[in-house]
Amino acid sequence: MSRKPIIAGNWKMHNNSAQSAELAVGIMQELKNEDKNNLPEVVIAPVFTSLYAVDKELKNCGCGKVTLAAQNCYYEPKGAFTGEISIEMLKDFDLKYIIIGHSERRQYFNESDELINKKAIAILENGFLPIVCCGETLEQREEGITDKHIASQITKAFENISAEDTAKSVIAYEPIWAIGTGKTCDSVEANRVIKMIRETIRGLKGDMAADSIRILYGGSVKPETIEEQMAQSDIDGALVGGASLKADSFAKIVRGAMA
Ligand code: 13P
Repeated sequence: MSRKPIIAGNWKMHNNSAQSAELAVGIMQELKNEDKNNLPEVVIAPVFTSLYAVDKELKNCGCGKVTLAAQNCYYEPKGAFTGEISIEMLKDFDLKYIIIGHSERRQYFNESDELINKKAIAILENGFLPIVCCGETLEQREEGITDKHIASQITKAFENISAEDTAKSVIAYEPIWAIGTGKTCDSVEANRVIKMIRETIRGLKGDMAADSIRILYGGSVKPETIEEQMAQSDIDGALVGGASLKADSFAKIVRGAMA
């Protein structure tokens, strides 16, 4: 079964509107000579305050090579939730994906599996697609509970979500010890964990969902690592942090993912 690869840039808490617009334009410029049909799905996730400016640049370009994503959302449509942004509000933009459950949100903002599940359900009900992040700490890896922990995160995140909606969703496996550390997870090991995630989905939702869902690797992905990562059987792309903040390095990763 062939799954369209995704290279997604998570810009985290970087760049104001002007800087984000410049980076988006830079990425489109880098990709201007590439045939759209050969490209992976290229996704960028700026901060909320930059969505308007980046959305405008993507529309101006009209090349259709870059897709917009948000880094987070709240599941209630509106109300007394100071500081939150609802999925309804994200309909202002031509946006396709919403990242949820990033380890930084779980760690610094105490996001629970239950909250992530509520967000995933609301995202799918509103016609967007979640990029559900999971991953183990170094301590969990050393304790030998990586698979158990990740299977539990995935099982809870996809509770009460149909096989059809699961199939359209995206998962990003991001070992926490590999994020922002330069210590990329060995590709064979990343593929093993991602296969385990796919088999977890198979057990929960059946073959169609397991064979369709795209599962990305994230954690110190660089232009030098992407080809080996993409050569693995079950890695369907990458969620890139640091290396997505420069148009040339992000474009190199995109090109590295082109078969
Ligand atoms: P780095 O690529 O900077 O390690 O970040 C990975 C990440 O957390 C993407 O969501």
